[in-house]
Amino acid sequence: MRKKIAVLPGDGVGPEVVEQALKVLKKVSTKFHHEFLFKNALIGASAIDKTRSPLPDETLNLCKSSDAILFGAIGDPKYDNNPTLKVRPEQGLLKLRKSLGLYANIRPIRVFEKLKAKSPLKETILDGVDFVVIRELIGGIYFGERGRTENGDAFDTSTYSKEGIIRVAKFAFELARKRNKQVTLVDKANVLETSRLWRETVEELAKKYPDITVEFMFIDNAAMQIIKKPSSFDVILTENMFGDILTDEASVITGSIGMLPSASIGEKTSLYEPIHGSYPKAKGTNTANPIGTILSAAMMLDLSFGLTKEAKAIENAVEKAINQGYGTKDISDNPLSTSEIGDKIVSLI
Ligand code: IPM
Ligand code: MN
Repeated sequence: MRKKIAVLPGDGVGPEVVEQALKVLKKVSTKFHHEFLFKNALIGASAIDKTRSPLPDETLNLCKSSDAILFGAIGDPKYDNNPTLKVRPEQGLLKLRKSLGLYANIRPIRVFEKLKAKSPLKETILDGVDFVVIRELIGGIYFGERGRTENGDAFDTSTYSKEGIIRVAKFAFELARKRNKQVTLVDKANVLETSRLWRETVEELAKKYPDITVEFMFIDNAAMQIIKKPSSFDVILTENMFGDILTDEASVITGSIGMLPSASIGEKTSLYEPIHGSYPKAKGTNTANPIGTILSAAMMLDLSFGLTKEAKAIENAVEKAINQGYGTKDISDNPLSTSEIGDKIVSLI
């Protein structure tokens, strides 16, 4: 198989972790006789520094003409504490999501047996935890009208269309069919009108999926249940902002946010990235955990290219490395560096 992959390392530790995923993909291409063509492009703070734009046209065009996108991280502290700046790194990612129509963000939450002790939760609570959050990614308050009024007040608005909800909800139902056949819609339907539209729409759609159990849960309760009884979830479906917050929360129970991959599914091209951010403190130190990015590359092989066997080979190698006690400092008491973990996983494929 021959595929063109756009590589967007971005900011902070992005370049370091992406480099490890590339090594892994190169190993897979040799071992399984595929040809992956990698093309790098700028995004985020590093793109602003060089071009003044967080998403140069060149990058967007490359993404549009690629078969998949591998993404590192975005963000830089020099922008975080200055709310008056008009150009911000995050705009690059948001524009990319919108331009490519990346409507469904898949974030699997899985606990590795060997890492249970690293979780802040008791081991008994971690038994059987295996769920996926499907976060709507191109609607809601992230993309609604926002601004300041004449008297200096500020506003952000959230809008959802029925079609936008159906598209991502279908994705969640189809995924649940391949799993434990349970979908939990997380919303705030006791307060928000958009949430009531989500509920109505999902209830209607559920009639087409009689084999799936649908459950509705308010976001405040869901935030609590993810800590109290995370094993009760299978597929969580939610809107953009709730999904952003819940997935950071959920990542903590797995022991390290550095372990978690994600896929953002688009109509044509999809994007794959670790869920951790740019982790500026660790930038350039060769200490960040590359496993979230490596597992994102595995998701790319599986979901974008249908290379299930190859994806499994990466996942098995990661699992083996962890079981043998290898890991970066967030997960191992005898830590290896970012590049050493990359090499270890490559050698285990
Ligand atoms: C994420 C990130 C982004 C988001 C930021 C960088 C805009 O936190 O992918 O979860 O809020 O969606
Ligand atoms: Mn986030």
